[in-house]
Amino acid sequence: MRFGIRTLDEFSLRGKTVLCRVDMNQPVDREKGTLKSTNRIRACVPTIRELSDKGAKVVLLAHQGSDIEYKNFYCTKPHAQVLSQLLGQQVQWIDDVCGPAARQKIRELKDGEILLLDNVRYVSEEQTLFEMKLRLTHQQQANTLLVQKLAPLADLYVCDAFAAAHRDQPSLCGFQQVLPSAMGRLFEKEYCTVSQVMEAPDRPCVFVLGGAKISDAFLMMETVLGKGVADQVLTGGLVANIFLTALGKAIGQGSVDFIMKSNYGEYIEKAGRLYERYADRIVLPEDLAWVAGGARKEAPVGQLPEGVSAVDIGSRTAARYDAAIRAAKTVFVNGPMGVFEQAPSEYGTKTVWNALAQTEGFAVLGGGDSITATEKYGLTERMGYICTGGGALIRFLSGEELPVVKALRHGAEIMKE
Ligand code: 3PG
Repeated sequence: MRFGIRTLDEFSLRGKTVLCRVDMNQPVDREKGTLKSTNRIRACVPTIRELSDKGAKVVLLAHQGSDIEYKNFYCTKPHAQVLSQLLGQQVQWIDDVCGPAARQKIRELKDGEILLLDNVRYVSEEQTLFEMKLRLTHQQQANTLLVQKLAPLADLYVCDAFAAAHRDQPSLCGFQQVLPSAMGRLFEKEYCTVSQVMEAPDRPCVFVLGGAKISDAFLMMETVLGKGVADQVLTGGLVANIFLTALGKAIGQGSVDFIMKSNYGEYIEKAGRLYERYADRIVLPEDLAWVAGGARKEAPVGQLPEGVSAVDIGSRTAARYDAAIRAAKTVFVNGPMGVFEQAPSEYGTKTVWNALAQTEGFAVLGGGDSITATEKYGLTERMGYICTGGGALIRFLSGEELPVVKALRHGAEIMKE
């Protein structure tokens, strides 16, 4: 048991049917029917391998795509192919989630075999809109179709999906009510690492917040500043642009138009209030970059030409952030400093990411874009810890008890093997 949650060490697995919820949500190339990245699938391998090696019949549940922001569900067939290659063992796949075909396939599994079910979000109860509208309790989630159909076939439920631990959905929080449950190895590593770092971060503790996930960034900032966890918050990307707009600094009309068009106007007021309270700890860019005729241009904040869009922090800001990160003992990072995918606007992100790799402090990174930037610059092995979760890490850092953690803890109290 760790942090009140049971681990795989507490269960005998041979001959047991294990429902294992993983997060293998990856960007998909819809035309080719392939995955553009496989980092989350690779992260799931140790748990799946251990379950199979110890003789369990492994049934994997996973989602692909979101009904909220992207409306881009996709089947999990490519994931099964990638997983088969990574494991060097066939992973069976079925285009069913909890219907008669899936249940029959589960019954036919032999010890050590692995089956991946189709996208759980094809079942409406698993969708985030459903979650937000109905707000089912975990007990009610145990009465959903998915749990009712699959739980009777299984001996154990394992959750390895830390990246989805902020979701309150039956495949994540319902099974613990009716089956013995444990966290998988990835969940254990992610949750215990971030819990330990958050509990008593070595100082100075610096947060680097960029990217475009605005609601998450603001939620987290309020907590880490309010609770005194963050000694400094270095801002970049859209987060910084919103603060600068709140302070009346000219950042190019293109940037302001983007903020308004994306309905982030409400955050301008929030940013103003936050800055009033924590100006001593929120660090804003002093210069910004934009692209004209394919070339990078820079100017101090307030002096950008009318009409341009800021796409990166400027080099003076990058140098300042580089120094702050190298002096830090703990760094939490979510989101890049700009449009790092394109050469003229990658300087800020590249500089900050190199500092993260070289700092003697412990750097924790999370979120899809942060991971993509780390891979782009070949720094994966040099970071302190890379978390598969974006939204989940942010919610965790915001001080919320994650729904899946709550369900696993409750499961540990009510269920014995
Ligand atoms: C993620 O990509 O952050 C996780 O897979 C959760 O996905 P969701 O935000 O669509 O629930």
